[in-house]
Amino acid sequence: MNILQNISLQAYNTFGIDVKAKEFVEVHSLEELKTLCSVFNLLERNILVLGGGSNILLTKDFEGMVICNRLEGIEKLHEDDEFIWVKAMAGEVWHHFVLWCIQRGYAGIENLSLIPGCVGAAPMQNIGAYGVEIKDVFDSLEAVEIATGEMKTFTRAACKFGYRESVFKHEAKGKYIISSVTFKLYKQPRFNTSYGAIQQVLDKKGVKELSIKAISDAVIEIRSSKLPDPKKLGNSGSFFKNPEIPSMQFEQLKQQYADMVGYPASPGFTKVAAGWLIEQCGWKGKVVGNTGSHKDQALVLVNYGGATGAEIWQLAMDIQQSVKDKFGIEIVPEVNVI
Ligand code: EPU
Repeated sequence: MNILQNISLQAYNTFGIDVKAKEFVEVHSLEELKTLCSVFNLLERNILVLGGGSNILLTKDFEGMVICNRLEGIEKLHEDDEFIWVKAMAGEVWHHFVLWCIQRGYAGIENLSLIPGCVGAAPMQNIGAYGVEIKDVFDSLEAVEIATGEMKTFTRAACKFGYRESVFKHEAKGKYIISSVTFKLYKQPRFNTSYGAIQQVLDKKGVKELSIKAISDAVIEIRSSKLPDPKKLGNSGSFFKNPEIPSMQFEQLKQQYADMVGYPASPGFTKVAAGWLIEQCGWKGKVVGNTGSHKDQALVLVNYGGATGAEIWQLAMDIQQSVKDKFGIEIVPEVNVI
C-alpha cells in the first residue's frame, strides 16, 4: 500500500477539478482496507473515499487522506427458481457490472446502463434512472467499519433508501467504507419501459422482441444523446435533485406555467423537473466563465476547461437563487460538495 503526498485529484473526479490531496492511497484488497483502518486510525483523520468521483464537487485542496476504492471482482453467489444473487466489489465500474449481468441474462439493472461511477457509490445515493432505482434490486452490502476495521452487513432496510438518499448520507456518513454490494437479480426479466423515451427509441429502431440488451442499448442511446460524456466534458450528471413540493403549490404554479413538468411523488407531493425550472430561468446552454449549464440538459453543470470548484459552486448557487426567486422552490444539490 503506497501512501502518496500532494497528489492532484484532477483525474479522480468527473468534473475534472484540479485540486490536491494531502495524502492519497489506492486500496486494492479487503485486507489493505482493514489494515488502513487499524494502522492509520482513520476516525481521527479527515478522510474522503472516492470510487469513480462522479458525484462530487471538490471546491478546495483536501487536507486529509483520499482513499481510492479499487476493490475488484464479480461473483454469482446462489440462485433459486426466480432470482440470482450477484456480489460485486465496490471498485468495479458500474457500467461494466451492468454489461456483465446483461451478457449472462441477469435482469433488473439494464435501465441503469451507462451511469458513471463505481458499484460502491451506487447505494450511497440510491442511483436511479429511467424508472428504476438500485433499491429495487438491492439485497445487501458489506462495509468496513472505520472505527474498528470490522465488517458489517447492511440489509436493504438498514440502508434506508430514498430518492437519491441512503443512511450513508446521514447517520452512517463517514463511519463506513463500502466494500461490496450484493444484488438480487431476476432470471425472468421484468421489462420497465414506462419512461416514455425508452419506448420511442425501441419503436424507432424497430425492436419487435424486447430484451434486456435492447433496453440497455436504448438507455445508452438516450443518455448519450443528452448527457455529456465526462471524459470529453467535465460534469457530474444531474447537479441538483428534482424537488418535491406540495401538490397544491404545484397546481397553483401550473395555472401560471401551463407546461411545468411534474410527477406524482409521496402522497400530497409532486416532484418537479429541476431541469425545466432551470431552463425557464434562462440558464440552459448559458456559459459563465469556464462553466455553464449544459445545452441539452439544464440540470447538468459542466466544466468547459480550467474551472475551479468554487466557480462551479458559485454558478450552482446563482441558479438556485434564481429558481427560488422565480418559482419559490428551493432546489438542493445532488452532488457531494467538499
Ligand atoms: N427538462 C427540461 N429542460 C431541461 C431538462 C429537462 O424542460 O433542460 C424536462 C424534460 O423535458 C422532461 C423533464 O424535465 O420533461 C425530465 O427530464 P429528464 O427526463 O432528462 O430527467 P431529469 O428529471 O432531468 C432524472 C435523473 C437523471 C436520470 C433521468 C432519467 C435526477 C436528479 N436526475 O433527470 O439522473 O438519468 O431522470 O431517469 O433525478 C443523475 O442523477 O445524475 C442523473 C443523470
